[in-house]
Amino acid sequence: MGRNVGEGWQTRGKTERGKPMPFRTIIEPFKIHSVQAISLPDAEQREAALRRNSWNLFGLHSDEVIIDLLTDSGTGAMSAMQWGAVMEADESYAGSRSYYRFKAAVQDVTGFAEVIPTHQGRAAERILFSETVRPGHVVPNNTHFDTTRANVEYAGAEARDLLPEIGRVPSATHPFKGNMNIPALEGTIAEVGADRIPLVMITVTNNSGGGQPVSMANLRSVSELCRRHGIPFFLDACRFAENAYFIQQREEGYADLTPREIALEMFSLADGATFSAKKDGLANIGGFLATNDPELAAKCRNLLILTEGFPTYGGLAGRDLEAIAVGLEEVLDETYLRYRIRSTAYLADKVAAAGVPIVQPPGGHAVYLDASALLPHLAAAQYPAQALAAELYLEGGVRGVEIGSVMFGKPRADGTEAPAPLELVRLAIPRRTYTQSHIDYVAEVVIAAADRAADLPGYRIVEQAPWLRHFTCRFEQL
Ligand code: F0G
Repeated sequence: MGRNVGEGWQTRGKTERGKPMPFRTIIEPFKIHSVQAISLPDAEQREAALRRNSWNLFGLHSDEVIIDLLTDSGTGAMSAMQWGAVMEADESYAGSRSYYRFKAAVQDVTGFAEVIPTHQGRAAERILFSETVRPGHVVPNNTHFDTTRANVEYAGAEARDLLPEIGRVPSATHPFKGNMNIPALEGTIAEVGADRIPLVMITVTNNSGGGQPVSMANLRSVSELCRRHGIPFFLDACRFAENAYFIQQREEGYADLTPREIALEMFSLADGATFSAKKDGLANIGGFLATNDPELAAKCRNLLILTEGFPTYGGLAGRDLEAIAVGLEEVLDETYLRYRIRSTAYLADKVAAAGVPIVQPPGGHAVYLDASALLPHLAAAQYPAQALAAELYLEGGVRGVEIGSVMFGKPRADGTEAPAPLELVRLAIPRRTYTQSHIDYVAEVVIAAADRAADLPGYRIVEQAPWLRHFTCRFEQL
């Protein structure tokens, strides 16, 4: 599928200069073939549900949620082509035909020779880090996703985030706000020594930093730096197609290349990648570890057999491998990507136009509301992003996720807490799942909640687990 797929669908009118004159509305480039009912709990039921869960949105049953923007991971809709491939799957334990189809699709998109299927992204991380990372090591990344960080730390190493200053300012706009801070990376190599850096990673797009893209120029600089020092360079490639589309739209010299060509160039700069197929694999489960290093791959396959499964299925059923193989094709379709990135920006623009502070510019998969700016009356210790997330649910049954001091606050010895750098609510948009009217509804709910922001109560945590507390902690309203 090249860049011409679907081109012309909105270009019958021409401007005087012969350029296409697009209609204003970018439509969902699919029609709905199978539907699932949305339940519509009323305000009283929503409040009862949230009270029952001590105000923690993770405790809700999905039937208590109207529009679920908790995550874009595994929550998308598969296409008829994917469901068709599911029926054709080969469930052989060893040497499944579906594995070879999956492997060819991954090789086509990434160019990597060695392809190891895993049940999801974090399994690829755990296997890669078990082989490469040792206590005392430092792993740089633009920003580690929380499972990536946890897997690095579990291996006894330091996970170091190296984002440029601008990447940490929600209102500051920059076309590639997810870029690695190159001087800081050079500084880290000089400080700890290349021999204590088992690999450098870049997350595309930068999820924890607002879904912001990384430029090809930045990837190339990091690649050259790593090669000079003999350090392997890996991509955390969960949202590689969205990143490739941003490069096409924003970086000089890429306007005439297809997302597939751009993606291949991105991967060619790296020595390997970890991938969660629950994002840009357009699948509900799955992932892979890919590399050009046959020795590393052999060691990783040995570990794979211990916990994931035989190397030709790696914790997945043949039908999952088929769905991912087709998904990797579909996700690079330019018509899909144009709709995908535009529909995220649509929600962002709508709420921003109403004065709601958000991380700018909008990222690929999510809109991030800036709760510190919206609820200045609450200190970090009163969890403003939790207050806003709870209100979105109470107001209209919209479930987002707190990315602030509940998730990343660090308890101090004196009983207080070091706050997170930002207090955000992420509204992640599942792929091909909600229509424009669903998103219009979400915007209305966000604006209504924002109007009431000054009156929203803070929260305190009354019970928490020793790690990853945000999933299960219990709150009290202040
Ligand atoms: N890396 C990034 C950048 C991610 O966003 C995720 C998952 C993973 C790795 C792990 O992949 O879930 O398949 O094991 N992110 C989801 C989210 C959970 O909501 O952002 P996984």
